[in-house]
Amino acid sequence: MITIKDAVFLKSAPSMNETVAEGVSEVAFIGRSNVGKSSIINALTKRKGLAKSSSTPGKTRLINFFDIKFSYLENEYVARFVDLPGFGYAKVSKSLKYEWQKNLTEFIKKRSSIRLFVHLIDARHPKLEIDRDVNDFLHSIRRDDQQILNIFTKADKLKQKDVSALKKIYPNALLVSSSSGKGVEKATEAIFKSLFGEPN
Ligand code: GTP
Ligand code: MG
Repeated sequence: MITIKDAVFLKSAPSMNETVAEGVSEVAFIGRSNVGKSSIINALTKRKGLAKSSSTPGKTRLINFFDIKFSYLENEYVARFVDLPGFGYAKVSKSLKYEWQKNLTEFIKKRSSIRLFVHLIDARHPKLEIDRDVNDFLHSIRRDDQQILNIFTKADKLKQKDVSALKKIYPNALLVSSSSGKGVEKATEAIFKSLFGEPN
């Protein structure tokens, strides 16, 4: 089984210019504010409180880096998770909001160590315009060595009939509940395979 055996906080950076040196393969968690980006990092790494989450949208305001060690059989695989601010919400002035979103898109565009964009979508609201925008944006800036993986969050809030409806539209949908841990193993595996390919 593929697992995450180590996860440590590395750094919070207020802007593109103050981030950590590139090199290690990075996974950027992207999505609208409050969708569960920080929570899924805690669920994947099984470390509560590693990434700061909150019911108030706009909690994550910095670019947060975590050193991650995956393990499969006897081998270790090193990566980095990046927890980012959300799209679309900020209880601040318009100009400051513009500044933040510019910082965020700039980072996503220019950071060449990013190998995988994990686009998180609220499973209860899979068709929001903001997610279509995020999807279009990611596809427009993606380089050949970068992949995009969609993960639906807050799966515990769905009724069985909603799960079936979602799976009809997205047969291979990865559904995760960060609160119960359901779907976390499959998501870990999907992230690992996007980064390192099929383990042998
Ligand atoms: P920003 O940093 O503000 O952009 O938000 P975020 O995307 O990092 O969301 P965060 O992880 O802080 O979670 C937002 C809220 O949703 C918190 O109250 C979490 O407890 C809740 N939440 C996150 N994931 C789940 C989940 O799988 N199930 C349920 N029920 N609640 C969740
Ligand atoms: Mg957050």
